[in-house]
Amino acid sequence: MGQKRIGILTSGGDCAGLNAVIRAVVHRAVGTYDWEVLGICRSTLGLMSSPPEVINLDIDKVDRLLTMGGTVLGTTNKGDPFAFPLEDGSLRDRSEEIISGYHQLGLSALIGIGGDGSLALLRRLANQGGINLVGIPKTIDNDVGCTERSIGFDTAVNIATEALDRLHFTAASHSRVMILEVMGRDAGHIALNAGIAGGADIILIPEIPYTLEKVCDKIRDRQSKGKNFSIVIVSEAVCTLEGNPVKNMDRFGECRLGGIGQYLAEQISISSGAETRVTVLGHVQRGGIPSSLDRLLGTAFGVAAVDLIADGKYDQVVTWQNREVVSVPIAEAIGQYRAVDPNDTLVKTARGLGICLGD
Ligand code: F6P
Repeated sequence: MGQKRIGILTSGGDCAGLNAVIRAVVHRAVGTYDWEVLGICRSTLGLMSSPPEVINLDIDKVDRLLTMGGTVLGTTNKGDPFAFPLEDGSLRDRSEEIISGYHQLGLSALIGIGGDGSLALLRRLANQGGINLVGIPKTIDNDVGCTERSIGFDTAVNIATEALDRLHFTAASHSRVMILEVMGRDAGHIALNAGIAGGADIILIPEIPYTLEKVCDKIRDRQSKGKNFSIVIVSEAVCTLEGNPVKNMDRFGECRLGGIGQYLAEQISISSGAETRVTVLGHVQRGGIPSSLDRLLGTAFGVAAVDLIADGKYDQVVTWQNREVVSVPIAEAIGQYRAVDPNDTLVKTARGLGICLGD
């Protein structure tokens, strides 16, 4: 196998397990194939810089990465390279600068770790500029198509589950309705998984419309059985009773989801008379030490991505299907948004347990 130099970057929101992927890529590429690996800093921003901003990754440099949260390469979830915001407020297409950064570095291939949005942008750049791209799916939202799991999801579910465990005690002590708002963007995977694992009484996800009446019925039903507290987990994109998600515009002009927990707390309190409190878990879900499952998945994906490059198979993303790593065309994975299927086995499990899904 000839000597190659490959690049790796992390793109979009960070999550636990990204460093485990970087470590595995370096072990496989340097250790097995004797290639060189360049870590590109801050996603495509590193390729836009002149000269490109990179770190030479050898085996010593990735020594302690398995357990480390975040990404040592840095990342960004802003700045579409095809409409890049400039300081004067105008937008510029900077795609050619990124492509030229890749070629200046003499890379044979690029591994891009990202969610569906990042993978779509990277693929567009790859097609335009002859970049040999291999994708690895990551996102706590677990919404990338064709893969049962994306890196970061399991850790986020564990963190949300632990939060529910903790809320149970304080809820019971004060006879309160505790509402935990979790991330997930338009997909309710975190709420559904953590809600079941953490024993929530009510799980609200964007894929299943709720009524306040059903939610309050569940709370009253528990009260009638001597259970004076209830635990609600709600996904950030769940809509208000008027049918709109709760969003706030930040000063960069980006819309961020957040606030449905507080909204529901007020509605539930007015309607049921219960005392309510809200916890918004926020970015805690993205941080911290990756779970063993995210380390395994990250390691398996990292090795498989390097092997795809060795086989000259590009424009592919590695996915997890039936306990196996399977590569699929990136276009296929980003073409299918993976929301919670209302007939999903975990939805049935929740219903089977008597958990209220609000419908
Ligand atoms: O996509 C991952 C995610 O954590 C979403 O769940 C959340 O809505 C969003 O990113 C938050 O983005 P930011 O880090 O820009 O606040």
